Amino acid sequence: MESSEITGSGGGKETTPGETVYHLSLREKDVAGARYALLPGDPARVETIASAPPFKHCRQLAWKREFRTWLGYLGETPVLITSTGIGGPSTSIAVEELARLGVSTFIRVGTTGAIQPHIGVGDVVVTTGAVRLDGASTHYAPLEYPAVADPRVVEALLSAARELDIPHHVGITCSSDTFYPGQERRDGFREYIPRRFRGMTEEWRRMNVLNYEMEAATLLTMCGVLGLRGGCVTGVVDRHAEGGRITPEALQKAEANAIAVAVRAMGSLLAG
Ligand code: URA
Repeated sequence: MESSEITGSGGGKETTPGETVYHLSLREKDVAGARYALLPGDPARVETIASAPPFKHCRQLAWKREFRTWLGYLGETPVLITSTGIGGPSTSIAVEELARLGVSTFIRVGTTGAIQPHIGVGDVVVTTGAVRLDGASTHYAPLEYPAVADPRVVEALLSAARELDIPHHVGITCSSDTFYPGQERRDGFREYIPRRFRGMTEEWRRMNVLNYEMEAATLLTMCGVLGLRGGCVTGVVDRHAEGGRITPEALQKAEANAIAVAVRAMGSLLAG
């Protein structure tokens, strides 16, 4: 066994027999020994993922607040699909509680806005590292600590995108705590953007940051700190250079592509 291999819950505290983790409302015996989890933000997307081939024997285990969990099988291996809700704070709760239940590999599957002009709607972005424009990750490590994806998860996501012939991009993501000011959007209640964020989209673009989303930095920082494996694939729903308008067609295409890549990558990771 390589010393870097993930063996379980990252050496942390597991649940006591019969214990129900508070927010996810799950017990260890519910999760059938699952070590792998897919993490969409949206509870509605949990069922969509569970319905994607080749998942089988899928069923809902719990749904409390934004945290909805289904259990399904890829081959013989149990995989959890748990929604994180939007943003770092709720993502940190989902990851903490899943890790206590024994999950050690996490793939976020979500939606994103393109910063780079060459990235198209419906393309997917595989995140190698995230700009920590969130707050939750600072509760785990100082800002000097990098939010990086596990290289095996990155490779599995890229191979999946290639095999499925889905246009994809790989690189750095900016994870913002806010959808509006932190992503310099002009379509909020007021056009006001605090000085700290004014011009930042252009700065990120020049620094080769690919995209905006809201959860990767928290997930990847936590995985680094806690000894877990994390990765992130997101489907592009809008392009910030064009004002960031999201259409239902764009959402549908982006979600379908990101889910296809995430499920295939998960299948190859658990196959070894
Ligand atoms: N999610 C984000 O956080 N930003 C976008 O522009 C689209 C999806």
